[in-house]
Amino acid sequence: MLAAVFHENGGPEVIRVEEMDAPRPGPAEVRIRVEASSMNHLDLWMRRGLPIEIPMPHIGGSDIVGTVEKCGAGTVRSLLGKRVVVDPSLDYDWYRLARLRGYDGEPFRVIGEHTQGGFAEFAVVPAANVVELPDGFPAETAAAAALAGVTAWRGLMTRGGLRKGDRVLITGASGGVSAMAVQFANEAGAEVFAVTSGSENVRHVRGLGADHVFDRTTTDWGREIHRITNKRGVDLCLDSVGEAIWPQLLRALAVRGRLVSFGATTGPAAKVDIRLLFWRQLSILGSTMGTPAEFRDAMDMVFRGKITPPIHAVLPLHEARRAHEMLEAGEVFGKLVLDPREARP
Ligand SMILES: NC(=O)c1ccc[n+]([C@@H]2O[C@H](COP(=O)([O-])OP(=O)(O)OC[C@H]3O[C@@H](n4cnc5c(N)ncnc54)[C@H](OP(=O)(O)O)[C@@H]3O)[C@@H](O)[C@H]2O)c1
Repeated sequence: MLAAVFHENGGPEVIRVEEMDAPRPGPAEVRIRVEASSMNHLDLWMRRGLPIEIPMPHIGGSDIVGTVEKCGAGTVRSLLGKRVVVDPSLDYDWYRLARLRGYDGEPFRVIGEHTQGGFAEFAVVPAANVVELPDGFPAETAAAAALAGVTAWRGLMTRGGLRKGDRVLITGASGGVSAMAVQFANEAGAEVFAVTSGSENVRHVRGLGADHVFDRTTTDWGREIHRITNKRGVDLCLDSVGEAIWPQLLRALAVRGRLVSFGATTGPAAKVDIRLLFWRQLSILGSTMGTPAEFRDAMDMVFRGKITPPIHAVLPLHEARRAHEMLEAGEVFGKLVLDPREARP
């Protein structure tokens, strides 16, 4: 099969599209003929090098959509021929167990990070992770929605406790996760504030349903939020930008406001004014991907057409290197999807 792989860490130039052996499904696994797999910021972190072991040479791609064409021992044969989207979380129950038993045992893992992913003609995943697509559902939409959708859903709904009428701030709004979060928040009846970059993105984010959109390259958005909310601030903020903007984020929160962090794109060492934290009685919460039930809830919103992840472009697999370059350069609104059916140039 053809796969987009890297053999060592580095810039986009380390991405190569090569012939490899197609993986075989083991017990409780299925093999999927991939129709679409979307890029996440995670693919950039992995290519650059993370302080964890990943299989090398590495095939990225945590979002996998395609047809089940081989079943390993112990799987339900009726899955054969089904079009599915894959829940990218492996062993999410580890989080629950870690509370009971401590940080022991096989930790939470992500398909395409700790295992080989979907930037290939075939991928092997646990049968338990596949969710059937509605008839004729577009592969690229499901692939764009999977990891980003469950992350946005858990961050806003479960961890953030979003309620109708909340004022919600979403940063990095052109990003894959955040563009979905804007829609989830809007659908839930929140007043949505969003920060993005450039007038074109501002227009797109408005189109997703945000009520107030700020261009971070030209606007003091913190001051604007202060003004629009009559100095009250926002009830909830969902952030992945991290270090560069945490001081402003904390100041933008209302009394008893919640900041949910799911990423640190600009760096991990944020500065927190502790006085602001206790005086305003703020909460800082972390969130990572989501449970199988949350994955299904988020995908259900997508299947019902309530939420549509914006897709910047669908590229053939052999353009995987260009996909890395585009995402790294911040040229992408929403998601980039790779189509391995177009693998051979
Ligand atoms: N914990 C989890 O489960 C989880 C899951 C998914 C992602 N993540 C993390 O969350 C982050 C976002 O992921 P993604 O896949 O949605 O990424 P993405 O599609 O690449 O989006 C990142 C967005 O961040 C904003 N940004 C980038 N540089 C910035 C800067 N210097 N200052 C302010 N904003 C900046 C940009 O939005 P604007 O131009 O619109 O401002 C950009 O579109 C990544 O760090 C990723 O690793 C974590």
